[in-house]
Amino acid sequence: MNIISPSILAADFGNLKSEIERVKEAQWIHIDVMDGHFVPNISFGLPVVSAVRKLTSQVLDVHLMISNPLSYAERFVQAGADFVVFHMESDDDPKETIRAIKSAGAKAGAAIKPSTPVEVLYDVMDSLDLALIMTVEPGFGGQSFLHETVPKIQALRAYCAKKNIHVPIQVDGGINRETAVTCVDAGADVLVAGSYVFAHHDAAAAVHSLMWL
Ligand code: DX5
Ligand code: ZN
Repeated sequence: MNIISPSILAADFGNLKSEIERVKEAQWIHIDVMDGHFVPNISFGLPVVSAVRKLTSQVLDVHLMISNPLSYAERFVQAGADFVVFHMESDDDPKETIRAIKSAGAKAGAAIKPSTPVEVLYDVMDSLDLALIMTVEPGFGGQSFLHETVPKIQALRAYCAKKNIHVPIQVDGGINRETAVTCVDAGADVLVAGSYVFAHHDAAAAVHSLMWL
């Protein structure tokens, strides 16, 4: 079974409670935080994480597309994040950021953009709880899946097998029924999906269609 993490970036924010209810069968909820600096878009921040925390006991997977994740990590954990995922391209020391997330009591994830070589993750895989390979350029929902990212999923899966590392591999961006199959075949364990799930008239069916591939 794959872990599905619907991205609320594609939800109707005026009805967040009922939107989360629509995807209650997904194991995780993905929350995209954007600062208008690390990515050219602004989404939402700490108050939305706290609000979602009150609405569900699902695992909250908070994807920080922000500069200086180290300065904010602890506050996102306090707001209710189960996983705090930061970008390797951000300006802070990844090992220090991982330590800060873990010492605040959450699990730590690290993400890479489509143009970042997968090897940059190798150095931190030992201390990670989640590795995120972006399958679109971070910043916007509803983009098309970038097929050139698939070899990075395969390479990370092979690296983990060789080193006997058991860290789930997450993919995010342009995930639908077809691209999910490609990612799972390549070695992904956790599928983030925004528009595919929330634009579906039957969100529960969309979640199930990704869960059982
Ligand atoms: C993009 C975000 C994604 C986005 C995915 O910057 O990190 O999580 O919400 O949306 P879809 O599934 O619509 O590509
Ligand atoms: Zn995301």
